Amino acid sequence: MESQQAHRKDEHLSLATATYQRAHQHHYFDQVRLIHNALPEIAVKDVDHHVQLVDSLQLEWPFYLEAMTGGSNQAAKINRTLAQLASKHHLAMATGSLSVALKEPATQSSFTVVRDENPDGIVIANLGADAGLDKARAAIDILGANALELHLNAAQELVMPEGDRDFHWLNNIANLVEKLDIPVIVKEVGFGMSQATIERLQKAGVKVINVSGRGGTNFAMIEDRRNHQLDLDDLATWGQATPESLLEARGSKATIIASGGITCPLDVVKAGALGAQAVGVAGYFLNILIRDSATALDEVLTEWQTELPRLLTLLGCHSFRDLQKVPFVLMGDLYSYAQQRHLI
Ligand SMILES: Cc1cc2nc3c(=O)[nH]c(=O)nc-3n(C[C@H](O)[C@H](O)[C@H](O)COP(=O)(O)O)c2cc1C
Repeated sequence: MESQQAHRKDEHLSLATATYQRAHQHHYFDQVRLIHNALPEIAVKDVDHHVQLVDSLQLEWPFYLEAMTGGSNQAAKINRTLAQLASKHHLAMATGSLSVALKEPATQSSFTVVRDENPDGIVIANLGADAGLDKARAAIDILGANALELHLNAAQELVMPEGDRDFHWLNNIANLVEKLDIPVIVKEVGFGMSQATIERLQKAGVKVINVSGRGGTNFAMIEDRRNHQLDLDDLATWGQATPESLLEARGSKATIIASGGITCPLDVVKAGALGAQAVGVAGYFLNILIRDSATALDEVLTEWQTELPRLLTLLGCHSFRDLQKVPFVLMGDLYSYAQQRHLI
């Protein structure tokens, strides 16, 4: 018999799949148009797809498997498959929050399977931003993690009947960044970030920020379906979309990661043009795995790794970071947003 927290993990997996199409009906990256370069003056073989996020964190590819799961039998199976694919494709992978593994040690194997299947890969641990130093160190040890993600999920918690109601996180984040000897990435879970949030994180010492915006997985919708108590579905359109969040982050000295609603290599490239130095993908890959198969996800990853260097070539870029020089125009709502927020 699995615990309440493990049961919640399984509900997240099934509802993330059930709500994904509706959550993703608005594809915000369509409002970003890159300017074609008819004279690329580069060959595909000249493209270097590695990205250096900070001194001690280099990824072989600019996209990775973003934080999703752990803590139940089903989560263990999914983590095993994702880790096998991460290893095969040389992709970094984040696990879901390890808080359940710290509370219920019997669930740890649903996380450690990620390291077992990918001993030399980049594995990223994940915890809530309220986790103290001891918990953070324990989570890192469980996975032999190369980096730690701390998630900011106030909107999700407030929709959950059993969720947190107190959100004093900044001092704890600053303490963890100072004391831990691996990179700390602070991320949202799909509601995006504003310029002010990004500045406050940076002032607290955070060097890597994942804006994780609206446009893909939507935890207001997922928790609303789970709890059947409150009708908080009106938060379905809450938060900043991922391209909006990336515009909010422009000019920041922090390393910026994008996630939220990424569904194709062109989205990855557009995120790079808007300033992201890497891109996390959760819901889209999970959907392929659950609705289709591991083989289908394997094929999709191969396609992305074939297409991405070609798109960089088309834009005359030797590296993912070069995308930041690619001119773009913003359409419709996104243009209006950027103007009203004085971001362009
Ligand atoms: C089933 C599921 C579980 C998730 N669990 C976590 C989690 O434990 N910690 C976290 O930081 N983010 C979690 N996320 C959020 C993702 O990491 C990501 O920020 C968000 O889903 C937006 O990306 P997407 O649109 O590609 O799914 C989860 C996402 C999904 C789909």
